Amino acid sequence: MQNILVVDDIAENCYFLEVLLKGNGYEVRTAQNGAGALKSARDHHPDLIVSDILMPVMDGYALCREWRADEHLKQIPFIFYTATFTDQKDEALALSLGADRFVIKPLEPEALLKIIREVLAASRSGELGASADLPRQEGEFLKEYNEALFRKLEKKMADLERANQELQQTMIEQKRLEGQLRHVQKMEAIGRFSAGIAHDFNNILTVISGFGSMIQVKMPMDDPQRGRLEHILAAAERAKNLTRSLLTFSRKQEMELKQLNLNDCIRNVEIFLRRIIGEDIKLAISLCGEEIPVIADGGHIEQVLMNLATNARDAMPDGGILSISTDLVDIDEGFIRMHGYGTLGRNVVLTVADNGIGMDAATRQQIFEPFFTTKETGTGTGLGLSIIYGIVQQHKGYISVYSEPGRGTTFRILLPVIEGDVLPQSAALSHQPLRGGQETLLVVDDEAAIREYLEMFLTSLGYTVLLAGDGQEAIDVFRENADNVDLVLIDVVMPNVKGCEAALEMRRIRSDLKIIFTSGYPNDLIHKQKLLEEGMQFLMKPLIPTDLAGTLRTVLDDGIGYII
Ligand SMILES: Nc1ncnc2c1ncn2[C@@H]1O[C@H](COP(=O)(O)OP(=O)(O)OP(=O)(O)O)[C@@H](O)[C@H]1O
Ligand SMILES: [Mg+2]
Repeated sequence: MQNILVVDDIAENCYFLEVLLKGNGYEVRTAQNGAGALKSARDHHPDLIVSDILMPVMDGYALCREWRADEHLKQIPFIFYTATFTDQKDEALALSLGADRFVIKPLEPEALLKIIREVLAASRSGELGASADLPRQEGEFLKEYNEALFRKLEKKMADLERANQELQQTMIEQKRLEGQLRHVQKMEAIGRFSAGIAHDFNNILTVISGFGSMIQVKMPMDDPQRGRLEHILAAAERAKNLTRSLLTFSRKQEMELKQLNLNDCIRNVEIFLRRIIGEDIKLAISLCGEEIPVIADGGHIEQVLMNLATNARDAMPDGGILSISTDLVDIDEGFIRMHGYGTLGRNVVLTVADNGIGMDAATRQQIFEPFFTTKETGTGTGLGLSIIYGIVQQHKGYISVYSEPGRGTTFRILLPVIEGDVLPQSAALSHQPLRGGQETLLVVDDEAAIREYLEMFLTSLGYTVLLAGDGQEAIDVFRENADNVDLVLIDVVMPNVKGCEAALEMRRIRSDLKIIFTSGYPNDLIHKQKLLEEGMQFLMKPLIPTDLAGTLRTVLDDGIGYII
């Protein structure tokens, strides 16, 4: 039986060759390095040696050199089997030292066995021999040997460098994902906290404004306490708006989700956005050519756009460009792995970008938290983006921000797009543009900004608009135009003559007058307080374009007079 010496410092490699060779009828001895191999060979005189190159104590090159210089061993064939020294120059050095073969790992077992058989056969027939270029100059050998080691070292260094870079990349990625997770957890915690506060506050406010309104109804018009009570009620209303915003942030606000085309939503509010940003800021809208069917609450999406536009306006005090665009994208697992969020499949990216003042990292970190604002007291409550955050979450979407100081801000909102068959009736719904009319409307609100806003919007829908700043003025304007006014849109809470009193008075002048009340008070509260009777139409502020346009048409078209 022929005897093969296997030399490798890695135990698994030795074991693999041992099993392979024994299984094919050879006797096998192993050694862990060149020095061990020389000792074993001198004791047992093998028929063949298969040796690795890179090994501690004595490497393969040194072993081969000693082998060929040894009178007793030099006739024994020598095969290098290496995974690390793979350069042609490495092979040349090995052969010049007297190796019979230079084999690069890994090799199919059959191929390796074939080489071993060939070498053994050639050795038996005397074709092989100590073919080393001996005697070699010591200096020459050392030079080539050093070069081989140097090449190896360089390669190892490069591998190490690459591995290091990969590791660093993985660590950065890990850190980013950890940061993202922490941020999500923080937002969840703030969300629960605000939901709790908002819920309890709502109950408290219901009591304050409920009883307040009851007292107000019974109170004589000339009661000296009336003004104070009105302050209380107005403050309660502001607090209600605030708690509503908190509920939206914490995803506790009811949504009216239906299928709609996101591009239509943007077109619907375009006119408002222009109004919000003013003339110094250019609005550039670029909508994706295809329809974008999403399941969404149109009013809330409009609110997202309006809040983003308001922030953009504040960030561009000297003018600039606000651009809004929609694009369809396909989200795959790679995207989700990289960003830590996303819904697989078709999505739409709604991008809202400005070239305003931008934000630094510390600001960026906190913008979605409720009450975080960098604006002066009285100019911002810090709820705009929190509301957006809640709305986007409730739509199973994601919002991200890119911003640098002085380089503007880009918000991207990712929303899943409905795939497959689109429901026909919903599709019809989503295409409905805002419906207007030719009628004359009397708009009554004590806030000049709201009057201005409503006038602009309603005029754009084709209506003729008359304005009044309080109840008394409303009565006066109505008296002059009693036959022309088709509907009165009136705020409930106003100084001097209240909305409901003014409405009563106008009804006395014309009994079939149609009236829509607006207020921050919830619908049912006003019912309970008997401020208004069943059948009235009532719109909650803020007045969302779609809701307002729709309610106006419903009331104007159905011919019913709304009774107080
Ligand atoms: N487009 C933007 N450019 C620069 N900074 C922005 C932009 N949008 C938001 N911010 C920063 O984020 C903060 C929070 O915005 P958010 O809309 O939540 O509140 P706000 O605008 O301060 O107040 P509110 O919206 O309640 O009136 C802002 O105060 C501002 O510092
Ligand atoms: Mg804002």
